This record gives sequence, C-alpha cells and structure tokens, in this order.
Amino acid sequence: MQKAKIAPSILSADFSNLESEVRAVEKAGANMLHIDVMDGHFVDNITFGPSLVRSIRSKTTLPFDVHLMIDPVQMYIKDFAEAGADIISIHLEIKDDLFKAIELIHSLGKKAGIAVNPDTETNKILPFIDIIDQIIIMSVYPGFAGQSFIEGTISKVKEIKDLIRGREIDIEVDGGVSPLCSQDCIDAGCDILVAGSSIFNTDSYELSIKEIIGF
Ligand code: DX5
Ligand code: ZN
Repeated sequence: MQKAKIAPSILSADFSNLESEVRAVEKAGANMLHIDVMDGHFVDNITFGPSLVRSIRSKTTLPFDVHLMIDPVQMYIKDFAEAGADIISIHLEIKDDLFKAIELIHSLGKKAGIAVNPDTETNKILPFIDIIDQIIIMSVYPGFAGQSFIEGTISKVKEIKDLIRGREIDIEVDGGVSPLCSQDCIDAGCDILVAGSSIFNTDSYELSIKEIIGF
C-alpha cells in the first residue's frame, strides 16, 4: 500500500507551549512541520513571521514546510530561508512575480512549492512544473484551521498527478485532512498530508497520525 508523509500544521497547536507541541508531534511520527504564514491581506487572518520560525528551529530536526499565504512575497523569502525554512511554498494566485520568487527560493538553497486554491484551474500550474519541487493542493479556502475538506480535491489531485507526468514533484494536500479522507488522497497520488486540528485537537498525536496515514 502506498504511504504518505504527514506534516502537522502548527496553526492548531497550543502556542503557549509551542516547544513541547513541536517535540510531541516529532515523537508521534511527524515527517515534517507545516508552518502557515498569513498576512491579513492575501487571506483574512494573521499568524506569524520569520521570528517564530527561527525560535522553534532549534527545538526539532523535522524539515520546515513553510506555506506563505502572503502577497507580496519576494521581500520576505530571504528572512524565512534564514530563519530555517526547508521548503518554501507561495500561492499561484498572488500578484507578485512567481518566477522571480521561485528563483530566489532556489538561490537560497531551499525547495520551492506552489499552493493552488480550491477555485483555481489546475492547468495554471503548467508553466511552473519544470521549476518546482512541491505542489500544495488546497482542500479548504486558505485562512483558517478547522474547516471541512472539500471533496472535489480528490479529482484535483488526480488531474495534477497527470499534468506533472512523473516529474519529481511532491503533491501535498492541505486543509480539513482527517482519517475520513486521507486514504482517498493517498490513492489519488498525494505524497504529503497536512493536518492541523485532526492531530492537535486530539489526546493522542501518535494515534491520530497513524489513523491519518495508516498503521
Ligand atoms: C489553511 C492552512 C492549513 C490549515 C490546516 O489556510 O493552510 O494548513 O492550518 O488545518 P486543518 O487541518 O485544521 O484544516
Ligand atoms: Zn497550510
């Protein structure tokens, strides 16, 4: 059976105990840490910036999967790279120059990803498939944790899998992921599942992770 990686989103963690939350998901089997950055402009919510990324960098060896829901983005990329991001994803829908941003991410030695909103046509990703390392398929409208998984995501994963034609690009599904939909995502070709509330809002992170990605 195909297995996916799991990237807990710290957006649903207890911020007053962030160090122990990060250590707890690492111990529970997380493969990377998903960090949601929001600017109150591209999305209707504000979260955190590079200083938070820097402050937890020394607390874990997990790769940092930084999801930037911000526009403009170029002026902040270096800060996130220096703060400890390993993968930096930007949104396909921003007005800022995506090609320049991706080039900058790579020039800093980091992996680059593009996130695609639920209402964005999948073929808009085509101009970028030879220069990116990851595609985040949003399974909720970006901005908040705890929303319901949008069912149409499964067919989108299959479409994008076809579009990339075997290229080495990780497909990540982000938003509302729970054991109810995770297997369908994996069967459709998803490599990484992001999960916030379905891990951090439970009593056993280890059990929740196993229930999402399989025992
Ligand atoms: C939504 C974020 C997601 C979110 C996931 O804008 O990009 O990463 O925090 O949280 P859940 O799993 O609760 O939907
Ligand atoms: Zn995210």
